[in-house]
Amino acid sequence: MPTEEITLENLNPEAFIEEQVAALKNAVGDAVAINALSGGVDSAVVTMIGHKALGDRLKTYFVENGLMREGEPNQIVGWFAALGVPVEIIDASDKFFAALKGVTDPEEKREQGITQVFYKDVFAELVKESGATVLLQGTNYTDIEETAAGVKRQHNVFEQIGIDPEETFGYKVLEPIISLRKPGVRAVARALGLPSDISERPPFPGPALAARVIGEVTREKIATVRKATRVVEDELADSGAFQHLAILHEDMVTGVRGGKRDFGGQIEVRCWESADAVTATPTEVPFATLRRIADRIVEEVPGIVSVTYNIATKPPSCIEAV
Ligand code: XMP
Repeated sequence: MPTEEITLENLNPEAFIEEQVAALKNAVGDAVAINALSGGVDSAVVTMIGHKALGDRLKTYFVENGLMREGEPNQIVGWFAALGVPVEIIDASDKFFAALKGVTDPEEKREQGITQVFYKDVFAELVKESGATVLLQGTNYTDIEETAAGVKRQHNVFEQIGIDPEETFGYKVLEPIISLRKPGVRAVARALGLPSDISERPPFPGPALAARVIGEVTREKIATVRKATRVVEDELADSGAFQHLAILHEDMVTGVRGGKRDFGGQIEVRCWESADAVTATPTEVPFATLRRIADRIVEEVPGIVSVTYNIATKPPSCIEAV
């Protein structure tokens, strides 16, 4: 691969920040740049490095795609406001749901439902409005490695798979953290003084809850998986796991509630131990905790009658379902 990895052992976070700030100043010159903040540690680090380098010539947006967790947009914008970084929320949820309509194939969902809408539609418009010529993006080393290996199309990878964003979307893409894996990004986040809510934030996929709905993604299904996610995150917050999540299955199963047949949906809970998301093993969550999660989900999430726990490793499983 053309990009060289900087391992955690070889990383000096302070020097890395200085180098990237200088590189961005140099690459952007007097132009205006934009970036999207999702709230994850990757885009947060890029936002901070970008603001250090460019000040108010960097416009940061939070794209509300309708696929985020409960209360997430306002929470993230609030954190950055406290750090003195203004972030504008752009409501684009109608566009995402329209593009996701009828799409069931996982790669098509990522490509047509998320990537194309995000970069070609929403971002192209923001670029035009803001006069920006550069997009800063938090692609990391694992993203390009997995995409190049054909495991999964990470929604933010272009050049490594032969796409020229300037030709395809009309703007240049700069990727300050492309040589780092997650532990390196977290070390840089700490050195930037980001609060631990951000620097230690569990990963969350770019396609957001759409990566956790098997089959067609609709507003209703997102609302269901969002409620289940809240339960899983509540109950496993102190698990120390690398990542924990809820997945909504497509198949319905027969259940019984109040003595009557209740044909309903299934939620799969996953909780992972991992260092870098490349390999992962399921967490040995105490059975009592799993039972509590199941009880809460069937009680609090309308339409769900079955809850399972994934016990396969990655590989061959993946962390997300889509
Ligand atoms: P998988 O499902 O490939 O996930 O085992 C590996 C790690 O990457 C996260 N993930 C993504 N992150 N854009 C991202 O920024 C994506 O499209 C994406 N898909 C998965 C996933 O949550 C896990 O931490």
